[in-house]
Amino acid sequence: MPVPLSQPPVAPHALDRVRAAVESGRLGGGGHFTRLCEDWLQARLGCQRALLTGSASQALHMAALLLELRPGDEVIMPSWTFPSTANAVLLVGAQPVFADVDPETLNLDPDAVAAKISSRTRAICVVHYAGVAADMDALLSLARHHGLAIIEDAAQGLLANHREVPLGTLGDIGVLSFHSTKNVGAGEAGALLINRPDLVPRAEYLREKGTDRMAFERKAVAHYQWRAPSPGGGPSELVSAFLSAQLEYAQQWHDARLAAWNSYHQLLTGTHDGYRLMTVPPYAAHNAHQFAIRTSDSRARSRLQQTLSAAGITAAPHYVPLHQSPLGRQYHDGQALPCTERAAASLLRLPLWPDMPEDVIRKVCALVSARED
Ligand SMILES: Cc1ncc(COP(=O)(O)O)c(C=O)c1O
Repeated sequence: MPVPLSQPPVAPHALDRVRAAVESGRLGGGGHFTRLCEDWLQARLGCQRALLTGSASQALHMAALLLELRPGDEVIMPSWTFPSTANAVLLVGAQPVFADVDPETLNLDPDAVAAKISSRTRAICVVHYAGVAADMDALLSLARHHGLAIIEDAAQGLLANHREVPLGTLGDIGVLSFHSTKNVGAGEAGALLINRPDLVPRAEYLREKGTDRMAFERKAVAHYQWRAPSPGGGPSELVSAFLSAQLEYAQQWHDARLAAWNSYHQLLTGTHDGYRLMTVPPYAAHNAHQFAIRTSDSRARSRLQQTLSAAGITAAPHYVPLHQSPLGRQYHDGQALPCTERAAASLLRLPLWPDMPEDVIRKVCALVSARED
């Protein structure tokens, strides 16, 4: 049997929830099931307000609008991320500034961020890569010192913590993804987490396509009206209903993923001098979003990927760094980002999903350990 990179889990009652949404007669967004998901997120994560969005990409765009970023402003972010992190900034006319990552965690290196702060810097967009917390103590203190906002791109970070505080709730604004590649998926969906009370009213306008429809639904206003330019609304009730069932399994899947991740870590520790395993700093409780190894160089990675592929096992590199992408090159200051570039050349993600059979993990590890380079 071929082994995929991931098998997105589906809660046993997810289809019943979708049926209930259909039978409720309300299919548009912002109804009972959307609120159910938002209540779950608020209770579980402890943010001021959680708002479902169509995707994490859309939530990032909303975050840039909420912080009123504009042309001339700069936002420091890793180049080692998905394009949506930078799109959000470009879409409001501001400039992404790419800083290098820590060689172990592949999260923003606070010293590299400090070196890129200028009089135009307005915010830092922190990506918690693979659900492992970035060094938030250092990044938050840097932000406070320079009067900068922090957006947390916790697209991969559901149920992961930094010193027991959920990712996405430490900065001014956080975002989560429920894309089917994430630990809890609903096809396409995301969430905007607002941690500053003053941002809540405008965040509600953005989620409701620029209107105060949420206030209208709470009977706080007689008519709903246009209040703010907005990139769109939230998911339909069909998607929210599905997601509401998925979230009820979030902890179970989280525990199962961690068990698989720990097996990988145990089986691969010390077996191969040429490979580096992921490092989880003491301040981070990760969510086993991904298990990746780093080879000595890109040729060793290709050979390992081919060995696994010949045995029917899917393994994959990750991002093309944004500063080396056709669009990102236009915005980059030209400085090398050596840790990012090395990760792009050498990182290989191995198959991982909740309840992945132990014998499959053993087979992958045996093939990885047996390679001679
Ligand atoms: C770090 C990061 N940010 C943003 C996104 C975009 O998430 P979505 O697909 O929900 O828009 C992803 C998706 O892979 C991601 O990994």
